[in-house]
Amino acid sequence: MKAKPFLFTSMLAAMVAIALVLPSCGGRQQTASADNLILTPEPGPAPKINGPLVYGCRPGNPFLYRIPCQGTRPVEFSTENLPASLSLNPASGIISGTAPGKGEYEIVIHASSREGADSRPMKIVSGDMLALTPPMGYNHWYAHYDRITDAMMRQAADILISSGMADVGYQYVNIDDCWMNAPNNNDSLRVGPLRDEKGNIIPNRHFPDMKALTDYIHSLGLKAGIYTSPGPLTCGGFAGAYNHEEQDARLFADWGFDFLKYDWCSYSNVTVPGSAGEDNTITWEKGRGSLEKIKYPYIQMGEILKRQNRDIVLNLCQYGMGEVWKWGAEAGGHCWRTAGDLGFELDRIFDVALKNCEHSEYSKPGAWNDPDYLQIGYIGTASEMGVPEMTQMPAPMQYAYMSMWCLMAAPLVYSGDMTRLDKFTLNVLCNPEVIAVDQDPLGISAEVKMAGDSAFIMVKPLADGSVAAGLFNRSSRPAVISMKLKDAGFQARVKIRDLWRHRNIGSFRNEFKAEVPPGGVEMIKISSTKQ
Ligand code: GLA
Repeated sequence: MKAKPFLFTSMLAAMVAIALVLPSCGGRQQTASADNLILTPEPGPAPKINGPLVYGCRPGNPFLYRIPCQGTRPVEFSTENLPASLSLNPASGIISGTAPGKGEYEIVIHASSREGADSRPMKIVSGDMLALTPPMGYNHWYAHYDRITDAMMRQAADILISSGMADVGYQYVNIDDCWMNAPNNNDSLRVGPLRDEKGNIIPNRHFPDMKALTDYIHSLGLKAGIYTSPGPLTCGGFAGAYNHEEQDARLFADWGFDFLKYDWCSYSNVTVPGSAGEDNTITWEKGRGSLEKIKYPYIQMGEILKRQNRDIVLNLCQYGMGEVWKWGAEAGGHCWRTAGDLGFELDRIFDVALKNCEHSEYSKPGAWNDPDYLQIGYIGTASEMGVPEMTQMPAPMQYAYMSMWCLMAAPLVYSGDMTRLDKFTLNVLCNPEVIAVDQDPLGISAEVKMAGDSAFIMVKPLADGSVAAGLFNRSSRPAVISMKLKDAGFQARVKIRDLWRHRNIGSFRNEFKAEVPPGGVEMIKISSTKQ
């Protein structure tokens, strides 16, 4: 039934593509942002509700959730079975109030407009778990480094809404390093006393009012994130939380932050209680030192955050030391970086992902392996903390990057220049069917099957009994990659959908083959024909 419109759209897209390709031919490599490389059809005008099917909160804490929904505004939202402590703004789709008592609440969200209507269930789980699906949002680091200001964070929040990113689930607006004062810095507005006479940390003059900033972000229905280090100084040389952990966390909660990135940085030279006399020079490069010391600051912060009357997601950033995936959740973390800074390794994206996949067994709701941010579009080179320039990553590899992150159930945090988001970059970041793989409630991270020297397949079981898979080509030539369907657990005939192109490919038995561009991916969803 649906085959015809799909065929028509793809023919139209191909014609448009040819028209767009011609002027840029002539030996030049296609730039990553070329519109002709866009795979996904534009969203239609009718409402389409996206976002997680399950959402965690803690009883009695402030609750804020903006319903991600595509489609031409105005849209009118309504809900069924919303707990009495919550209320919905029907025009904005923002649900707010106080998280209900411990329990599971199956709500139904409705969205309607003159263009059509959509409905979707969502289970609110009020208990002790947060981040039941991988966090999604924005982080300033790889675009703005030590140039970040309050005004830029507000603008990022605005664009999260105006670009449509929030309509597919991006939700957190996270400040990284350099919002505090530093003992020394080239920018005199970032130098000043680190703390006031009561010991409270002082934001630098680019951040005049933290509470006003989070109020602004919250007024859009979004959430706000902040960054610090357990050490005396952050990686950028700014004030860290050492010896002020509880006080800082309380202040972050009072300011209204919903997410904390806790970055090891200068903690290597700190002596933790009970470890005097032990090797006190842990460095992540060497990975030396006692596991107790590596865990200590994270267990400490995990406990402190649980005592706050606010849901604060804890993002452990210590580059994978002490096999953090084995204890990060127990320490109170919701996600943990599994390796060093991806900004230095963008040319090794497949290796980084395959390494991250070695820890797949530890991925589960509320506990996510974090291979670091999505760095596409305009980003500044990590080594120079440069000003943002268009990525040189070929377009097919950008699709592969996003596909791997979703198949690995990684946090989806865009870290590029929000003011220069182009159509192509948004296309890679905002495909709801691809994102649904990431946000699947089972929370399983992909298993990898090698398919020869330069190809591999990632396989991720989904809650509805279907399976998502990515067929990745690491070579510099197009390759036909073949997948045995029994490797995805299917013996009988299946139907297969192309998730990037939103196209049903057909029905298959035993084997599925696809021609995959160099460095690219074919990302599919496989379901039983009976589904
Ligand atoms: C470390 C982290 C990065 C970033 C910088 C900030 O390198 O791994 O993600 O937060 O610090 O200084």
